[in-house]
Amino acid sequence: MATKDIRSGDLIIEVPYQLLITRAKAISSLGSWAATLSSHQAIALYLILEKSKGIRSPWYEYIRVLPERFDSITSNMIDFLPENVRVDLERQKEKFERDYAAIEQLQATSNAYNPISSNEFLWGWSCVNTRCIYFKASNCQLSFSSDENIAIAPMLDFLNHSSCAKIMGEFNQQSNCYQITTMTTIKKGEEVFINYGPHDNFRLLIEYGFTIPNNPFNYVSMDEEFLSLSLPDEDDTIKQYKLNILTQAGFMGDYTLREKEISFRLLTALRLHVLHPFIPSSTHAQSLIARWKDTLIGRLDKINEENDQLVFDYLERMCQTTLNKADIVMNNLSSELSRNGTFHIYQIWDESVEILKSVIDLCHAK
Ligand SMILES: C[S@@+](CC[C@H](N)C(=O)[O-])C[C@H]1O[C@@H](n2cnc3c(N)ncnc32)[C@H](O)[C@@H]1O
Repeated sequence: MATKDIRSGDLIIEVPYQLLITRAKAISSLGSWAATLSSHQAIALYLILEKSKGIRSPWYEYIRVLPERFDSITSNMIDFLPENVRVDLERQKEKFERDYAAIEQLQATSNAYNPISSNEFLWGWSCVNTRCIYFKASNCQLSFSSDENIAIAPMLDFLNHSSCAKIMGEFNQQSNCYQITTMTTIKKGEEVFINYGPHDNFRLLIEYGFTIPNNPFNYVSMDEEFLSLSLPDEDDTIKQYKLNILTQAGFMGDYTLREKEISFRLLTALRLHVLHPFIPSSTHAQSLIARWKDTLIGRLDKINEENDQLVFDYLERMCQTTLNKADIVMNNLSSELSRNGTFHIYQIWDESVEILKSVIDLCHAK
């Protein structure tokens, strides 16, 4: 909480370099046998070993106020997540497993410490994942590759995230401190937030385990709907032909909707997808593809009126299908909202519904 009015441009926190937990510091304490570890692995391992020292650790006061455990998304909750979040979650899980494998490999070759279980490592790994700061290589002498530019900054990591917070975080070479300056005013008594980055609720949930209401970065992914879209009597080879063109043009996937906003990638992909009937060898089809390519470079804003109408008709159907999915998931979730994590998944779908409805309105206006 702000104990006094804070002005825009004021420093809200600074952490001296000696108090940052960096990879270099972790490795020098762990020993040269740990030199192969990445920043994330080394800092996580260091925190675990320091925690096990209890009061004998110089970090005792800090570590004792860290979360004791981190809740995970349980396997029965995974089914309620949108497909794109499930994919990201799987990647996250793989990253954890790779990192733990690196620790296990070290354990097999060194007896410098008692073996660390996967659960213990999950604690250290989650501390780093949810609390580390990133440095820009240009204004920091701490390390060299951007991947290595992470550190734990005790105390600074107790500040929560708000998408409204405007801050500047950087390492100040003169004072040798990592500093955060607010670019907005904060009134006495208000919570002091920082901004973890332009994260949508999917990213916030996967990386940090929470979501925020009215997140301006929210979006709905239409990749799955797009790929399952089929036109009446269209042969699979024709569908594949169109998908190949999209891939070659660099327009395959990453189709998103935001509040009253359809991504250019999705519009572009739909323009091609809904061309029907479509005989690739015909001169008519080839001239339509040429017109489609003109829409890519802005020479045309549509292939033709008929195609434009079909794009919005199909988009409306895709939105409707996703709305129906949201309805089923939200119905299933509504009786379990008190369960950990369920609320956040419900919130994600609830905000997706708002986005989908706003896009359906756009389609009607066409
Ligand atoms: C860097 S820590 C912030 C300090 C944390 N609140 C604590 O007391 O240890 C990040 C974690 O804080 C929580 N958090 C941060 N901002 C939040 C917000 N706006 N709403 C809910 N939880 C938030 C999440 O659990 C996240 O993983």
